[in-house]
Amino acid sequence: MEMRPWVVLNAGITLDGKIASRSRDSRISCPEDLKRVHRLRSEVDGIMVGINTALIDDPKLTAHKIEGGRNPVRIVVDSRGRIPLTAQVFKGDAKTIIAVSKKAPADKVREIEEKAEVIVCGEDRVDLRCLMKELYARGIWKLLLEGGGTLNWGMLKEGLVDEVRVAIAPRIVGGRDAVTLVEGEGYDLISEGVRLRLKKSYPLGEDFILEYEVVR
Ligand SMILES: NC(=O)c1ccc[n+]([C@@H]2O[C@H](COP(=O)([O-])OP(=O)(O)OC[C@H]3O[C@@H](n4cnc5c(N)ncnc54)[C@H](OP(=O)(O)O)[C@@H]3O)[C@@H](O)[C@H]2O)c1
Repeated sequence: MEMRPWVVLNAGITLDGKIASRSRDSRISCPEDLKRVHRLRSEVDGIMVGINTALIDDPKLTAHKIEGGRNPVRIVVDSRGRIPLTAQVFKGDAKTIIAVSKKAPADKVREIEEKAEVIVCGEDRVDLRCLMKELYARGIWKLLLEGGGTLNWGMLKEGLVDEVRVAIAPRIVGGRDAVTLVEGEGYDLISEGVRLRLKKSYPLGEDFILEYEVVR
C-alpha cells in the first residue's frame, strides 16, 4: 500500500465555482466559515498551497482564529523556489516546508533553507506523489489542501485527494479569467471526472457547506 497522507481539499467558492475573482480577490468565506477552516487547520498535520496562492494572498496558514489552536506544518509547492524570503509562511512559530523541483536555483534553495525545510521532488515540476511520500515520512498523515485551482487539479489528477469540502458563498462573480476550484487541462468527458459521494451538508452563516468523499 502507498504510504501517503489522507488529503482533504477545502475551499471557499462562489455559486459559480470561483475561488478568486478576475482581479484575484479571494475573500469569499463568511466569518463563521473562516472559523470552520481554522478549526480544520488545527485538526490536521499539514496545510498545503500552490506557489501562486502564496504569492497572491501571502497567507499565514495558521489556526490563529481558534483559541489554543494547534498550528500544523505549512507546505508550499514551488518548483522554482519563487517564494519571497519575506513571505508570511516563514513567520510565527509553525514549521514550514517548501517543496521544490530540481529546477530551483541552488542559491535560492540555500536562502530558503535558513528559514524552512526544503524537499526536492521532481525534475521540472514538483512531483506530487514523491512529495506525499516525503510528507508522510515526516509524520504528516492528515493534510489539508487549500488550493489554488492549479494545485487542486494536480492533486486530483494524481488520485491523491480523499475528501472535498466546499463552502459555497451566496455570490456570483463570473469572469473567464477568474480562478475556479479546479483548473488544469481537465477531462474530456464528464464520465472521466473525479466521482464524489456527499457525506454531509449544512448551512453555516450565509454560506452552505458540502462535504464529499472521493469514490475510487
Ligand atoms: N477561495 C479559496 O478557498 C482559495 C484557496 C486558495 C487559493 N485561492 C486563490 O487561488 C488563486 C491561485 O490559484 P492558481 O491556480 O493560480 O495557483 P496555485 O494552485 O496556488 O499554484 C499553482 C502553481 O503551483 C506550482 N506547482 C508545482 N508543482 C505543481 C504540480 N505538480 N501541479 C500543480 N501545480 C504545481 C506551479 O508553479 P511552479 O511551476 O512555479 O511551481 C503552479 O503554477 C489565488 O488567486 C488565490 O487567492 C482561493
